[in-house]
Amino acid sequence: MIRSKIVATGSGIPEKVVTNFDLEKIVDTSDEWISQRTGIKERRVVIDETAADLATTAANEIIEKSGIDPLDIDMIIVSTCSPDYLTPNVACVVQNNIGAKNAACVDVSAACAGFTFALSVADKYVISGAKKCVLVLASEIISKFTNWEDRSTCVLFGDAAGGVLLVPEENDEGGLICEEIGSKGEGWEVLGNGGLPISNAFNGHEKIKPEDTYVFMDGREVFKFATGKLRESIDNVLEMAKMDKEEVTWVVPHQANIRIIEVVAKKVGIPMDKFYLNIERFGNTSSASIPVALNEMAEKGLLKKGDNIVLSGFGGGLCWGTILVKWC
Ligand code: UT7
Repeated sequence: MIRSKIVATGSGIPEKVVTNFDLEKIVDTSDEWISQRTGIKERRVVIDETAADLATTAANEIIEKSGIDPLDIDMIIVSTCSPDYLTPNVACVVQNNIGAKNAACVDVSAACAGFTFALSVADKYVISGAKKCVLVLASEIISKFTNWEDRSTCVLFGDAAGGVLLVPEENDEGGLICEEIGSKGEGWEVLGNGGLPISNAFNGHEKIKPEDTYVFMDGREVFKFATGKLRESIDNVLEMAKMDKEEVTWVVPHQANIRIIEVVAKKVGIPMDKFYLNIERFGNTSSASIPVALNEMAEKGLLKKGDNIVLSGFGGGLCWGTILVKWC
């Protein structure tokens, strides 16, 4: 049986660190409020880098670690909800930057759940045999869409990119085992960014203002959705795999809020020390949070052959995705 296997990970992290104390100077907030309500202490923010720049850094790291020739990459999928342009997609710019001339390039948009969706799409190409070497990236520069005067959102997010290289695994040693992805469009107004009102020469509407594109969020609704859906989705995937909770080595959750993760851990019945956390240092990097965490884990030597790793994310749309990976 052919499965998709992750052969390398990488990330692209901006250098600029913005601490909670830095934010105290620009909005009415405090380190105490942010730390207690979210678990975030600092985040990274781009200065001049683009989403494509961060994704390219992640891609180059993956190329270096895997030793792959960029010409052998036959597909690039980038998850983003904060792209540099509506078109061209980020993936095409990355393709040009890394010289992956033989790749088909597409972006996937499922907000903070986007990496799980991108991985799911890539998996289908790999297991069908249609593609043999797929670069799956997530790159977010939410700071570009943030209202830096709105304390209820600006303290939450950070910028980053991460990704993996996916190839076929034919020896039944592991890889992507099973998944659940899903969406609930009736909640589309609960969370989003980048809204562009219709403004053209014929309707007399005002020109688009910067504030039209800002992040909007009903935090409490998102909290409720996330804690319920992640629990359900992790349970479903473990049931599909006929796997007990005790067999899970790691859960790599979307890093949105430490309190959401704690509630999910309790509901699912998997101890918190199996949940990998880096929210304290990066904040919510939207769809980049899972691959950035995975790359840190790989670099720390935490991922061992045979480990059962649950990747689980949620976000605007509303969307969610959980993927079980047996590391090999
Ligand atoms: O990737 C998915 C993206 N989004 C999420 O995952 C968000 C999910 N939701 C959350 O993480 C939480 O709902 C938040 C962290 C956003 C907010 O926490 P909360 O415990 O739900 O707080 P709240 O919205 O109920 O606000 C409590 C108080 C309010 O003041 P009053 O009305 O009680 O006087 C807010 O005005 O906290 C105030 N507040 C702040 N105070 C200091 C809101 N933001 C801040 C802030 N600093 N940054």
